[in-house]
Amino acid sequence: MIDMYSPLPLGRIALANRFVMAPMTRARANADGTPGPLAAEYYGQRAAVGLIVTEGIQPSDDGQGYPATPGIYTDAHVAGWREVTSAIHARGGRVFFQLMHAGRMSHPDNTPHRRQGVAPSEIAPGEQIFTLGGMKDIPVPRALEASEIPVVIDEYRHAARRAVDAGADGVEIHGIAYLIHQFLALSANTRTDGYGGSLANRARFAIEVAQAIVAEIGADRTGIRLSPGFTGMGLSHGDEGPALYRYLVDALESLGLAYLHIVHYGDEGILRDLRSRWHQALILNRPERSRDDIGSDVVAGFAELESYGQMTLANPDLLERLKADAPLNAADPGTYFGTSPAGYAVGYTDYPAAG
Ligand SMILES: Cc1cc2nc3c(=O)[nH]c(=O)nc-3n(C[C@H](O)[C@H](O)[C@H](O)COP(=O)(O)O)c2cc1C
Repeated sequence: MIDMYSPLPLGRIALANRFVMAPMTRARANADGTPGPLAAEYYGQRAAVGLIVTEGIQPSDDGQGYPATPGIYTDAHVAGWREVTSAIHARGGRVFFQLMHAGRMSHPDNTPHRRQGVAPSEIAPGEQIFTLGGMKDIPVPRALEASEIPVVIDEYRHAARRAVDAGADGVEIHGIAYLIHQFLALSANTRTDGYGGSLANRARFAIEVAQAIVAEIGADRTGIRLSPGFTGMGLSHGDEGPALYRYLVDALESLGLAYLHIVHYGDEGILRDLRSRWHQALILNRPERSRDDIGSDVVAGFAELESYGQMTLANPDLLERLKADAPLNAADPGTYFGTSPAGYAVGYTDYPAAG
């Protein structure tokens, strides 16, 4: 019987079980974007899940949106991340790096070069963002010139190579809320060139990023995270959402990516539709899923893997607790980010194991 504790081949690796640690920004990187001093311990503690997807990692200076997020584009980044991957592999775990370019969800206070974010079009999200000086309005982004788009795609390609250099088993392209999603969304993309207008044009950037990474490190080491039901951060697709995601998922499927990671909100119909189109592994994240519901999608054969964010953040020994029917620690949102008043260490590596 397939259950959460069954192994699964994924691309060129094998996962010990069906639990995935969902990507979670923790804002604890050093000033140069290398992982902070406890990052290897934090991820190593959680390596019993079948697959860890790291926090979002920027592929370039432009890609940074929030303070103290890590990068993967310099030699120092690679050296720092190698300690993290070594700690995970030493415990038999596997890890994909999540490549996250924040696009317009950024602020000059948060980028290393102090410039505003870049985006498909000059449209602000109409939101505020955390900075070390408090919450601030997000300024109107600078629209990427047509000639710059291949450069940004090449940043993703380069970051994927550097991730593998650092020992990552693969990369996950972050396709929700940030730059890639901003290209997809009608509300954020009013371009009149080949990257805006029709849904095929709006999907082009996502597909070209995936193609570049596949050419660099292989489809079997490339996954993508999407959320057809996500409507935050000023993003909307009008009534084109289902058609857009069908088109996009078909294109990504034909590239042979290792997995599709869906964060599911709302309509079950589009989820079932995308599942039927996707023949590789599906990782399903159902936000705030209850403990009693763990495994239901895997047991039903609907998803190959299920991802858990806050439960994994708060329970370094999540699998042991579930097997022993032991109570779970509750996650503390006040310490999610190392930039909070509680500081770096609290709420990171000090969640207790049971017993
Ligand atoms: C502190 C925190 C940081 C997050 N950062 C990211 C991120 O960097 N990339 C991403 O794709 N999702 C991010 N998420 C979303 C989670 O991956 C996940 O989808 C969400 O927490 C819902 O799942 P859960 O109920 O199992 O936690 C974050 C969530 C939390 C709580």
